[in-house]
Formats: sequence, C-alpha cells, structure tokens
Amino acid sequence: MDWRARLQAYLAPRVAMVDEALARCLAYHLPLPRVLPDAMRSAVLAGGKRLRPILCIAAAEAMDAPAQTVLPTACAIELIHAFSLVHDDLPAMDNDRLRRGQPTVWVQYGEAMAILTGDALFAQAFELMTEQARHTPPERVVQAIRLIAHATGVQGMCGGQVEDILCEGQVVSETQLRFIHAHKTGALIRASVLSGAILAGGAEPKVETLDRYSHALGLAFQITDDILDDTASTEQLGKPAGSDRAHRKATYTALFGVETARQHAQQALQDALAALDPLDARADPLRWIAIYAVHRER
Ligand code: IPE
Ligand code: IPE
Ligand code: MG
Ligand code: MG
Ligand code: MG
Repeated sequence: MDWRARLQAYLAPRVAMVDEALARCLAYHLPLPRVLPDAMRSAVLAGGKRLRPILCIAAAEAMDAPAQTVLPTACAIELIHAFSLVHDDLPAMDNDRLRRGQPTVWVQYGEAMAILTGDALFAQAFELMTEQARHTPPERVVQAIRLIAHATGVQGMCGGQVEDILCEGQVVSETQLRFIHAHKTGALIRASVLSGAILAGGAEPKVETLDRYSHALGLAFQITDDILDDTASTEQLGKPAGSDRAHRKATYTALFGVETARQHAQQALQDALAALDPLDARADPLRWIAIYAVHRER
C-alpha cells in the first residue's frame, strides 16, 4: 500500500470519531438565542479536512495513548480553527463568500452573527478542554490549555492574521512572510501536535522532536495553501480561488512564483520528515500527514 491508501485507512475511523464528537458538543436545543447555535453548527459541521484534531490524535498515538483519550482537546482545537475561519472570511478581513463549499457564515447569517459565532466557538473550545481532565492528569491538561491559548493569541494565530492584513499590497521580505505563515497557520498546527503529545505523557525529547516536525509542517501546509489559491479551482477548493491575488496578499506564490514556492514546500516537507527520524513506526501517520499536506488537492 502507498502512503495515500495507508493514510486513508488511518483517517476514516478517526475523522468519523471527531465528526461525531463535534456534532455532539454542538447539539444543544436552546429556546434562545436564535441563530447562533445554527451558525456555529454551520461553521463546524459542514466539512473540513479535520487536519488539526487528527494531528493531535496522531501525536498522542505516537506516544502510545489511544485516540479517545485526547478527543476533547482535539475537538476543541477544531472549534478554534473554525472560529478563525469564520473571522478570516469576514468583509473586514479576507471578504470571502465561500467556505467548505457553502456560503460563509457572514453571508448566511450576517456580519454581527459571524463575529459572535467566532467568539462563541472560541469560548466553547475552553469549556471542552476542561473535559480533558476526565482522561488526563490536571497538570498536563493545564499545560495543553496554556499552549493552545498561546498559539491562538497575540503570539500565535491572531498575531499572524494582523501581519497578514497589514502586509496586503506591501513588498515583504521572506522573513516577514515566514512570520505570517508560522503564526497565522503554523502556531495552531504546532499546538495540535504538541498538545496531543503532552496529554499522552510523551517524554521531553520526543516532544522536542515533534516541535521541530510541527514547525516545518505548518510552513509546508501554508505554502501549499498559497499555491492552491493560485492554481486550483474554486470547485476543487470549496473556497474562492484567486482570493490572495485579488487582495494582494503576501504569499509564497506572490513572492517567489509557483515553481519556487513548490520547492519551498518540498524543503519544508523534507525538514518535517527528517525531524521525525528519531521516532519509530508509531509516528508513521504523522509522516503520511506531512506528505499529504504538500500533495493535497484542496
Ligand atoms: C484553511 O485551513 C486555513 C488555513 C490555515 C490555511 P484548512 O485547509 O485546514 O481548512 P479546512 O479545515 O480543511 O476547511
Ligand atoms: C488563514 O489563512 C489562516 C487563518 C488563521 C484562518 P488564509 O486566509 O490563507 O486561509 P484561507 O485560504 O482563507 O482558508
Ligand atoms: Mg486570511
Ligand atoms: Mg482567507
Ligand atoms: Mg489561503
């Protein structure tokens, strides 16, 4: 079997587990407020590759813990990711009308509801992370929560999004571009991997190995997102192709062209794979996911 078939077999039961848990945690029937629960479900349940929860699970499994034992945190990270997408699509940010093959939350429910949907998803993520304490010693849970909060805030995703917006239409250096990618996308990918490993009780040298892996993976993933924006179709992506060019975003394709951007993605993939060298076959899913991050079509 090649990596694709093996990854597929690995993903199927785990994505189903994550989807089911996400549906369960958003399944409230409230008389009030109106709209918000539907908008939250729309943001989270309508597809998505579930890369981040799967990374959390795969890192835990590489440390010998079963997938189930990190499920609350894996799902919490997907809620944070969904919040970041809802806000990223707003007119004040990327002004995009399509996400995961359907109209974005602000198009469906209005801008005020989209802002509140993101806020509510972010809050629910922390509520969910406290449930992790049913499976895991509290010191590890606190460490994971701290890591995930840090990866989302000013020194993580939000910080990267700020530079992404401020660099629209600007000439940027490779250093600035790396900052944007490492923060807006890389930080949460890194937190996904490291939280899984920490909750599983992974030894310090292994966590450091995964730190190097996840840093390279985040870069490879966002360079590929830049390339797909430039080269794939809207139908294929389920989000508007060419959005970055239209907004004069600082991307790898804008700075280097598609061919050189592909070389950078390949280099980051090789770095991610090399980082995993000290780990045994239990880390194979992390290897296949890295290959997939660069060879994916959406
Ligand atoms: C899109 O992330 C936003 C980026 C950080 C590039 P994904 O490509 O993981 O989006 P979904 O979750 O599969 O929709
Ligand atoms: C977004 O980067 C990263 C986030 C924190 C959501 P992009 O703006 O390139 O993501 P897409 O292409 O809209 O999914
Ligand atoms: Mg954006
Ligand atoms: Mg965007
Ligand atoms: Mg993009």
